[in-house]
Amino acid sequence: MTVLVTGGAGYIGGHVVAALRARGDEVVVVDDLSAGRAARIGDVPLERIDLASAGARSELADVMRTHRVGPVIHLAARKKVEESVERPLWYFDENLGGLTALLHAAQDAGADGVVFSSTAAVYGPADEPVGEDGPTAPVNPYGETKLVGEWMLRDLARASGFRGVALRYFNVAGAATPELGDTADSNLVPMVYSRLEAGERPLIFGDDYATADGTCIRDYVHVADVADAHLAALDALTGGEGDPYRVYNIGTGTGSSVREMVERMIEIAGSELEPQIAPRRAGDPAVVVADTSRIRRELGWTPRYDLDDMLRSAWDARRAGVN
Ligand SMILES: NC(=O)c1ccc[n+]([C@@H]2O[C@H](COP(=O)([O-])OP(=O)(O)OC[C@H]3O[C@@H](n4cnc5c(N)ncnc54)[C@H](O)[C@@H]3O)[C@@H](O)[C@H]2O)c1
Repeated sequence: MTVLVTGGAGYIGGHVVAALRARGDEVVVVDDLSAGRAARIGDVPLERIDLASAGARSELADVMRTHRVGPVIHLAARKKVEESVERPLWYFDENLGGLTALLHAAQDAGADGVVFSSTAAVYGPADEPVGEDGPTAPVNPYGETKLVGEWMLRDLARASGFRGVALRYFNVAGAATPELGDTADSNLVPMVYSRLEAGERPLIFGDDYATADGTCIRDYVHVADVADAHLAALDALTGGEGDPYRVYNIGTGTGSSVREMVERMIEIAGSELEPQIAPRRAGDPAVVVADTSRIRRELGWTPRYDLDDMLRSAWDARRAGVN
């Protein structure tokens, strides 16, 4: 049985592929390399297909048949919030068009089911740790595409017994090995390191939130732990027991303030620069922290790495010159 990983040449996908290989699973990657790097997956077979293109359904079904694919881990998507606000239709085409083609192909080729990359962006603002049954109210088209994606998978599972697990990642950071590091500058950790490297003061967007130090609080989870959660989800999917559709938060359950994060990164980078306070960004809730009790209880997954592992490994990846 081979595992198909879409978006396997991306940041999180590269880690998922490495974790699958490390435990001996056969893997095939589908990625159009629009944001990924083939070097991340070494000698794993790579099929270059744009999931949102017209012929994707039949090309994907062919790949599934040729490689005898059982389960699919679907990470390929566009993920930039601001871009999604500027180009909403393109986000729906890419993220939901891609998922539609994938689900059709999986049914055509008789695949086992799909583990789907969702996000904490499906939740609306909340001051408490959010559980999976909490209200969903995405505030941008990116989050909307992910929530609708979850519904598609849920409805298919209800209608046909096709199995689906949606994983709502919180803030992913770090690197298991330097060559797998995050190359995009859209998240806090790469953004801060990038400014420090350029000799610029790192920005903190707003210090007047109703939190202990006035800055936003987020739940940061190490990408290697996120990869492990995929293995646990995959086993639940192929185990064939329990609810055919499930959803899990992937976080640590502990919040860290942006100021705390930025100060630690300044220390790790050996910089003398002070953070600079900038105005709040629109749509940034004060606190976003996961309630992770469901995945701990049902799948036995628990994070192994702490904040320092995450921030140091992200810095080491930058120093290795991969980014
Ligand atoms: N990084 C995070 O903090 C985070 C948080 C929540 C959810 N996610 C989700 O996790 C998934 C992976 O994120 P990432 O950070 O690794 O992003 P990434 O951009 O590094 O990886 C995405 C991969 O998908 C590929 N891809 C994109 N569109 C494609 C298409 N139409 N056809 C084929 N391949 C395509 C890209 O080339 C890239 O290799 C995404 O679905 C994202 O929405 C990420």
